[in-house]
Amino acid sequence: MFPTHRPRRLRTHPQLRRMVRETVLTTNDLIYPLFAVPGESVAKEVKSMPGVYQLSVDKIVEEAKEVYDLGIPAIILFGIPADKDIDATGAWHDCGIVQKAATAVKEAVPDLIILADTCLCEYTSHGHCGYLQTGDLTGRVLNDPTLELLKKTAVSQAKAGADIIAPSGMMDGFVQAIREGLDEAGFEDIPIMSYAAKYASAYYGPFRDAADSTPQFGDRRTYQMDPGNSREAIKEIELDIAEGADMLMVKPALAYMDIIWQVKQASNLPVAAYNVSGEYAMVKAAALNGWIDEQRVVMETLTGFKRAGADLILTYHAKDAARWL
Ligand code: PBG
Ligand code: ZN
Repeated sequence: MFPTHRPRRLRTHPQLRRMVRETVLTTNDLIYPLFAVPGESVAKEVKSMPGVYQLSVDKIVEEAKEVYDLGIPAIILFGIPADKDIDATGAWHDCGIVQKAATAVKEAVPDLIILADTCLCEYTSHGHCGYLQTGDLTGRVLNDPTLELLKKTAVSQAKAGADIIAPSGMMDGFVQAIREGLDEAGFEDIPIMSYAAKYASAYYGPFRDAADSTPQFGDRRTYQMDPGNSREAIKEIELDIAEGADMLMVKPALAYMDIIWQVKQASNLPVAAYNVSGEYAMVKAAALNGWIDEQRVVMETLTGFKRAGADLILTYHAKDAARWL
């Protein structure tokens, strides 16, 4: 009667497989990124991200309605301002593009949760995530002066209607600074989702086309993490938890599944995975060539993030995934 154990017994029927499935993806898990640009009736496709558009505020509102109708609970807003300067004015100004988009979406779709990406790289003339020393050509962002701008940005985003603040600049102490700023302004109920373990990754390439945020010189390696490190990720999340983070994010996702797993084991906060632009672009390119089955690859990948420990997934595939679920 060899063998005694036949795991295949539980794979004989689709219903049986459904009964013993350990991980299931749901629309509840998804967060859809949107890029806001100035103007009206603008919908400009991002070349390296088929199906992703830079949208003017009126179009963002239409998109937000569609996202909500698909059952996706949240969007995350990025902004491309009309003008950039060294103080990243467009990030923290009350009439900034993300602020305008947040207010318009809140009014049109009040039950859709709005996350605001809180960083400065889309708004600085040099494309770095904070202040630079005058004359610096390496991109070694000045940490503490940058915190002041992040604080102002977060408060202004909350005032405009953002429900969750998501700081992505990897500055030391940014969660604490933003928490203080929000509390002082009366936003003690606005949660912070920290991009806690964010790596200096080549997978952000297409995003930088979409957000027009490629650094003019240098790179982000003095603030984002080195891809070889995992114990450092635990240090980063422990600091963010101590500083008051409500949710943690790991980014990118695909090459960092072990980090998602470790962060999940090391904390009791909700963990988000950012399925970044380069991961999306690779799938899209292969799918458009007919080389892979897009639906199956996307669903398998998103399920994989959940299996690795992600409670939430930020993904450009969110609308498609919601339709396929
Ligand atoms: C801004 C930011 C980036 C992403 C999210 N927020 C780019 C970067 O750090 O250069 C990347 C998202 C993606 O690639 O989809 N700090
Ligand atoms: Zn940035």
